[in-house]
Amino acid sequence: MASAAIFRILRATLAVILVLAGLIVLFLMYYKSFPSPKCHPPPAHSGQLAKQANIHSTSVTDKPVMLLWFWPENRRFDFQDCKRFFKIDSCYLTDDRSLFSRAHAVLVFHRAIEDNLSNLPTSPRAKFQRWIWFNMDSPTNTRRIAGIQGLFNLTLSYRKDADIHVRWKLTLKKNTDEDIVLPKKERLLCWIVDINDLHTKSGEGHNYYRELVKHIKVDVFDRSSADFLKGENYFLTISSCKFYLSFEESVHRDYITEAFNGPLAAGTVPIVLGPPRGNYEDFAPGTSFIHVNDFPDAATLAEFLLKLEKDNEAYMKYFNWRRFYTAMHHLTEEKHKFAHAICRACEYVGMNKVYRVVPDLYKWFFL
Ligand SMILES: *[C@@H]1O[C@H](CO)[C@@H](O)[C@H](O)[C@H]1NC(C)=O
Ligand SMILES: *[C@@H]1O[C@H](CO)[C@@H](O)[C@H](O)[C@H]1NC(C)=O
Repeated sequence: MASAAIFRILRATLAVILVLAGLIVLFLMYYKSFPSPKCHPPPAHSGQLAKQANIHSTSVTDKPVMLLWFWPENRRFDFQDCKRFFKIDSCYLTDDRSLFSRAHAVLVFHRAIEDNLSNLPTSPRAKFQRWIWFNMDSPTNTRRIAGIQGLFNLTLSYRKDADIHVRWKLTLKKNTDEDIVLPKKERLLCWIVDINDLHTKSGEGHNYYRELVKHIKVDVFDRSSADFLKGENYFLTISSCKFYLSFEESVHRDYITEAFNGPLAAGTVPIVLGPPRGNYEDFAPGTSFIHVNDFPDAATLAEFLLKLEKDNEAYMKYFNWRRFYTAMHHLTEEKHKFAHAICRACEYVGMNKVYRVVPDLYKWFFL
């Protein structure tokens, strides 16, 4: 009697366990098939995408698709250059707008947006799609276009606090024993700039230059000449000078451009004009450059440079950092002007899948 009762209880318990297990399995199956907003959707069917994108390789489809909505300043380059120059290959980059609906990220170049927004994508965006605000200009040169503030998920800018921070950074060296060998110096102080408006343009840099040339010779090279447009002579020219004017066109936090990276990479001392010294030191050792604010006026700076010209030991101290860091030659060809930024966006999209919205774009950028 007792054993039959126990048997019945056991059977009932077993039935309950089985039903529960079944429910759990069903729930798990349902849950798995439901796309989580934090994850990328499964890769598109390769054949279909390959046909649409006119691509032959099927491997591209494992990667998130990033659509370049506008070619910035119409400077087109080969998307393979991301791999070639930066070893970045973590997204499928395309400018084919017909891939809009399946793009995981859409890169929108701010300056190309029409004031009436008529050239932005109009079709509804997929849940997983993120729009990237792409702007390498400083606030001085950025239009406030009405109505775009709530559109973006990510920011791409020179700003350190952008989601995608684009900059030619120094890299740590592995071997720190190498001797520092500088290129041969034939000139004292140089500047590559648009020569046409050299004597008329206003702005801190140009004003400072006009003061400086009263006290020291500056070799000026025309940026708009053919040699420089192709980018070939850029590093060669800078490396032939002891000092180079790394003057930014406008003064803003973090706005430190290739004008600074150029001489660092070439083996020349940058004379910087831009944000305060401390901001430069966020990106490079304080002993790698001379800041115009270190001197009360242009005459005193000129005097200091002329003194350094004759004191090689003191001059060489500006290169001690090269034992520990390397500055990369940035891309100087005109068509590559935005390649670094676009490739960095691709890298980011391939690695980072977090949900985000930019709450107030202008409040952040024009701060
Ligand atoms: C938007 O502005 C552009 C350029 O000013 C113009 O060509 C276009 O017709 C405008 N579109 C609409 C819908 O108003
Ligand atoms: C992207 O931003 C838009 C607008 O703020 C928002 O509606 C959308 O949910 C965001 N999507 C993702 C995937 O972050």
